[in-house]
Amino acid sequence: MTRPLTPSLPLLLATALVAGCPGNDTLVEPDTNEPAATESEMPQVEGLESLPDENDEVGVVEYTLEIDIDEVQLLPGAGATEVWAYNGMVPGPLMQARVGETVRIHVTNRLPEPTTIHWHGLRIDYRMDGVVHGDLPAIAPGETFTYEFVPPDAGTYWYHPHMRTTVQVERGLFGMLIVHEREDQRPDVDADRAFVMDDIRLNEDGSIAPFAASGMDIVHGRSGNVLTVNGQVDPVGISLAEGGVERWRLVNTSNAREMLFRFPGLEVREIGSDGGLWPQAWTRVIDEITLPVGARTELEVRLAPGSTGGTLDSMVITQSPFGQLQLSPFTMASVRRADGFIDAPRAGHAVDTKYEKITSRLDVDERFELEAYLNAQNQVEMAINGVPYPEAPVWQVEQGVLQVIKITNLMPQNGHPFHLHGQFFHIIARDGQPTDEPGWRDTVMIPAGDGRSVTIATYFDNPGTWMYHCHILEHAEAGMMAIVEVTSAEED
Ligand code: C2O
Ligand code: CU
Repeated sequence: MTRPLTPSLPLLLATALVAGCPGNDTLVEPDTNEPAATESEMPQVEGLESLPDENDEVGVVEYTLEIDIDEVQLLPGAGATEVWAYNGMVPGPLMQARVGETVRIHVTNRLPEPTTIHWHGLRIDYRMDGVVHGDLPAIAPGETFTYEFVPPDAGTYWYHPHMRTTVQVERGLFGMLIVHEREDQRPDVDADRAFVMDDIRLNEDGSIAPFAASGMDIVHGRSGNVLTVNGQVDPVGISLAEGGVERWRLVNTSNAREMLFRFPGLEVREIGSDGGLWPQAWTRVIDEITLPVGARTELEVRLAPGSTGGTLDSMVITQSPFGQLQLSPFTMASVRRADGFIDAPRAGHAVDTKYEKITSRLDVDERFELEAYLNAQNQVEMAINGVPYPEAPVWQVEQGVLQVIKITNLMPQNGHPFHLHGQFFHIIARDGQPTDEPGWRDTVMIPAGDGRSVTIATYFDNPGTWMYHCHILEHAEAGMMAIVEVTSAEED
C-alpha cells in the first residue's frame, strides 16, 4: 500500500488499534522482524536521491555502488570540489530496505587506494561489517565486492569506509541507509525526511584543505569550516501546513564536530535514536538536541502553535564584533507555513512497544579508559586502556552475557563519541549516577572533562570480531580503537 494523500479513517483506526495493543516487542530483543509475506512499496524519503532497487524478488533489495573520484559543487561562487564519491554524489545515495529483507550491494572501487564500506549501526554478520581485520579483506583498486546482509532492526543508519577513514570520509564517502519498519509500525506522517549533516574543511577555491596532520587536528580532530546538509551549503526549503507533521532523521557524519541543533518556530518531539523508534513513554518534546559524530536522531516535527514558520539551526561558535565567542545559528532547514490547514492531522509516531531497561546493575564488568599521551618518538598517540590500536589486545566475551562497561575520559580537552560495532547498548549511568535514558544506541558521547564517564550495558548478542572506537576519526586513527571478540556459545 502506498501512503495515502489524506489520512483515511481505516488508517487512523488501524493506528489507534496498534497503539492500544500491549506491544509484543520488548526492547531487550528489539528485532521485530519477520519480513511481511507480501512486499509493501518502499516508502518515499525526501531530501536525498535514493538508489533504485535492481531486484524485483520479494524480500531482496539489490544495489550497485561505484566509488570514484569526481567533482561536485559544494561552495557557492567557488570552483567545483574534487571529491571521492559513491555514484558521483556527496553524500552518497540513500539506500533503503524493509526490515528483515536481504540487502545485496555490489561495490566497485575505482579509487587509487583500497577501501571498504562499514554499515554503521547495523547488527549484521561481522564478515559484512566492512572492517579490515584478520582475514577480512579490503576492496583493492579496480575490484568489486558484494556485501550481503539482513538488517534485523528498523532505524536510521549510515555507511562509510573503515580504512584511512579520516581522509576517505572527509573527501566525501558517507551516506544514509534507512531500514524501514513493518508497515503497521511506521509513523503516519506527511513526509519522511533525511538530513545528512556534515562539515568539511575547504580552501577558498573550493578544494579540500590539505590533511596536515598537525597536532591540533589530531588532538581535537579535523573540524571543517563549511557546514553542509545533504551536500549543500544552502538550507533545505520545506513548506508545511498547519496540522502537518513530518518525520525527520538526522545523522552527523563529520570527522570531529559535535553538533547542537535548535528549532525555533517548530514543535519537535524526539521519537528515536540510533537503534530506531522509542516506546511512547520515552518520547519527549525538546528545544534542542546534541548530536555526537556518528549518532542519529529521529524527530517528529510540526509548526509551533501560531508560528508562521521555523528553522532547523546548527549552533556554531563564532566571534562577536567585540571578540567574544558566541553561539550563532546556522540554518540547515527553513520551514515556511503553507496555506490552509489539515483538519484531520496524521497521528505521527503512535505505535507503542514495551519498555524494558536492560539492567539496573551498576557493578562494572569492564572499564575502558580513553587517553592520549606522547610516545617515545614524541608523537601524539591515543588509546583505550593504554595500548593503541592495532597493538591493543583483543577483549574476549561470551555471546549473550550481559556486560556493564564504564567508559572514562582521561583526555579531558575533548569529548569522545564512543562507537561499538554490531551491537546496541543502553546508557545506564553517567559519572556513576544511574540514569534512565531512552533508546538503543551504538554511539554515545563521553563528555569533555577529566574523569567524566558513561556506563553502558549490552548483551553482545552478535558473535564475531567487532571494533569499538572513538568516532572522532583522527582519534581512532591515532589509536583510540580496539576489538572485542564475541564467541558464539555453539562453537565451544
Ligand atoms: Cu561509523 Cu567504526 O564506525
Ligand atoms: Cu576521541
